Amino acid sequence: MKIGLAADHGGYELKNVMRDFLIARGHHITDFGAYALNNQDDYPDFVIPLAKMLAEKQLDRGIAICGSGVGVSVAANKVPGIRAALINDHFSAHQGVEDDDLNMLCLGGRVTGSEAAKELVIAFLEARFTAEERHVRRLGKVKALEMGGSELAE
Ligand code: RB5
Repeated sequence: MKIGLAADHGGYELKNVMRDFLIARGHHITDFGAYALNNQDDYPDFVIPLAKMLAEKQLDRGIAICGSGVGVSVAANKVPGIRAALINDHFSAHQGVEDDDLNMLCLGGRVTGSEAAKELVIAFLEARFTAEERHVRRLGKVKALEMGGSELAE
């Protein structure tokens, strides 16, 4: 898969572990930085370029890491077409894709250890959106909001 990675200083170490891990598994990686540890850097500078390229479908999936995983998920979800979530458990790592077409996994570099993170990443990457009618319907309502309209039930 074509996978984009991004992290601030809080996720820098885990991103490097993930990059090596994913390359060893045969994935094509685009690394959006940070390229050095700088405690003053800002997560939007890394995750937003990743989110834009993912939204343009130049990547298959994104993985973004900050200290908690919260900041990168908040920022990424501002980009239309991005469905990002902070994931801390195996069930959500695959169910988020199967039901909600999650395209960006967000991790907390200060929360999730590297071995647990690898398992979450595998579950995320191996999962596929089921495209079942109810999930498509729900995502349609999210998409409508993104486009400035609304398809909510009365
Ligand atoms: C940076 O200290 C930290 O706030 C950031 O990495 C992230 O955890 C934000 O959600």
